[in-house]
Amino acid sequence: MLKKEKAKVSKEGLRSFFYIFRYIKPYGLQFAGGLFLLVLGSLLFMVFPGAAGEMANAAAGESRFDLSVSDYGWLFLIILVFQGSFSYFRTVLFAIVSEKGMADVRKDLFSKMMSQHLTFFEERRVGELTSRITADVEQLQSAFSVTLAEFLRQIVVLIAGVAILAWLTPSLSLIMLLTFPVIVLLALVFGRYIRRISRKRQDEIAGTNTIAEEAFQSFQVVKSFANEWFEALRYSKSVDEVVKVSLRYARIRGIFFVFIITILFGGIFFILWRGALMVESGEMQLGDLFSFIIYTGIIGGAIAGLGNMYTTLAGAVGASERVMEILKSKGEIMELKPQSGERAPIEGRLEFRAVNFSYPGRVNNPVLQSISFKVEKGEKVALVGVSGSGKSTIVKLMLRFYDPLSGSILLDGKQVSDFDVRTLRSFFALVPQEVILFGGTIKENIEYGRPGATQKEIREAAKLANALEFIDSFPDGMETIVGDRGVKLSGGQRQRIAIARAILKDPGILILDEATSSLDAGSEKVVQQALDNLLEGRTAIIIAHRLATIKNADKILVLESGQIVEQGRHEELILRDGLYKRLASLQFE
Ligand SMILES: Nc1ncnc2c1ncn2[C@@H]1O[C@H](COP(=O)(O)OP(=O)(O)O)[C@@H](O)[C@H]1O
Ligand SMILES: [Mg+2]
Repeated sequence: MLKKEKAKVSKEGLRSFFYIFRYIKPYGLQFAGGLFLLVLGSLLFMVFPGAAGEMANAAAGESRFDLSVSDYGWLFLIILVFQGSFSYFRTVLFAIVSEKGMADVRKDLFSKMMSQHLTFFEERRVGELTSRITADVEQLQSAFSVTLAEFLRQIVVLIAGVAILAWLTPSLSLIMLLTFPVIVLLALVFGRYIRRISRKRQDEIAGTNTIAEEAFQSFQVVKSFANEWFEALRYSKSVDEVVKVSLRYARIRGIFFVFIITILFGGIFFILWRGALMVESGEMQLGDLFSFIIYTGIIGGAIAGLGNMYTTLAGAVGASERVMEILKSKGEIMELKPQSGERAPIEGRLEFRAVNFSYPGRVNNPVLQSISFKVEKGEKVALVGVSGSGKSTIVKLMLRFYDPLSGSILLDGKQVSDFDVRTLRSFFALVPQEVILFGGTIKENIEYGRPGATQKEIREAAKLANALEFIDSFPDGMETIVGDRGVKLSGGQRQRIAIARAILKDPGILILDEATSSLDAGSEKVVQQALDNLLEGRTAIIIAHRLATIKNADKILVLESGQIVEQGRHEELILRDGLYKRLASLQFE
């Protein structure tokens, strides 16, 4: 549930808002054109009431100008045609500017997010990030297309309106200007108060819905605790609160209407009455009183519009601040472009030297302590240890998702920090425990390992991954849609697609992070075969829950609380009376 943030404009926010104008710059010509038409249209609009009043004067035979009533008819027609075409072109021009400009913002924002460090995603919820590129950018878009234009229009209307009135009916205008804005502003303040209560009511309603949703979603828990009564009580309390707030809302709205009718209309009648007196005494023409009334209405509307616009603009400024925060942040990767096809092959030697590490923000909690080990070319090294002992963290350091606090990590004898991060990561392929496939075809999902691979290569990879058989059993074969809206694949099938992906990537070093631990015995066997194909002749780091999968490893590192407590081959370790033996006996019993 995203709550609407309170409208408040900070200096920083305004700076961000103006910064966003850079995205408008490439479409500056269209923007200027739109503004020009906007001002022109608004001025033309302001001619109307005056012309209407003059028409009435002409009808009464006392026009200032030498124009007949039918001349005025023609004038109106011409104004309408121009007004209409100005509006059309203005709307289109502003749409071009805001659509294209904001699309650019969106693209930059997404690229920037993609280039961020892993911690960026760990610290934020997915919903929050999506709302940056959807809701926030939309808010900016409407600010640049509608609100800004509207704002300028109201300003033009206000200035032109007051100027015309001051010229047309100076004394009556003075009375109006002394009373009317005060009333409108009072109404605005009142209106904002009402809106606040309305928002509170919305929040209460949302809260009620959340309670219901939670109860529905976790009804099993509710039932198993026999807490139906508790949920019902929670819900009914919340509903009662909604009623309370709603009634308060209704009362205040009622008062508002009384206010509007008495004060606002009272004010209008007062001014009209003054005007009528002036017409009676011959101080003013009737047609001018007519124009005056319309102008006053328009000016009132402009004042009210400007007041309301503040909230919208403040919202847009807030949105631009949130967008800028990401656009300005320094990603770990500076420039997003496809990896150049040729990368120098690596041998695949890996070494950790006295590596110490703790996660950022949790410095007092050492996760790895003086970890040292060597993996020679083509060797398979297994990491074992209870959950939380630091196995996945070792992998994250290899891929430079984080940097060690001290010690060094070497790839082919070269510091991993000396590689470009993307080049470094291109040497590895990771098969994780939980494979998440992207929405799309199976082919696309495998091709993700090496974009641009040929159909033949993809099929070959699928075959080695033991996946071809089940893929071909689908009516659409490789073109079968998977992911959220597609065919649901089993854990083992997803795992084999991930393996095909890794085979296609043909990495120097392979990392399996509990790749088989969520599989049942049946699929574990086919997956294991696929893994054996993948492992052949390759340096590999294997993290496994099931010790059966690592019996053949060249070296086993046993981790406990971030330290290597034992290492050796299975046959050696099983003879010792250590942690490995305990872990193994738990499994094989
Ligand atoms: N992103 C993170 N931020 C903070 N602490 C973490 C993070 N990831 C893991 N940890 C902590 O680091 C320790 C080791 O975790 P991990 O390497 O995932 O263990 P394993 O893979 O052996 O189960 C655990 O205590 C875990 O709570
Ligand atoms: Mg892990």
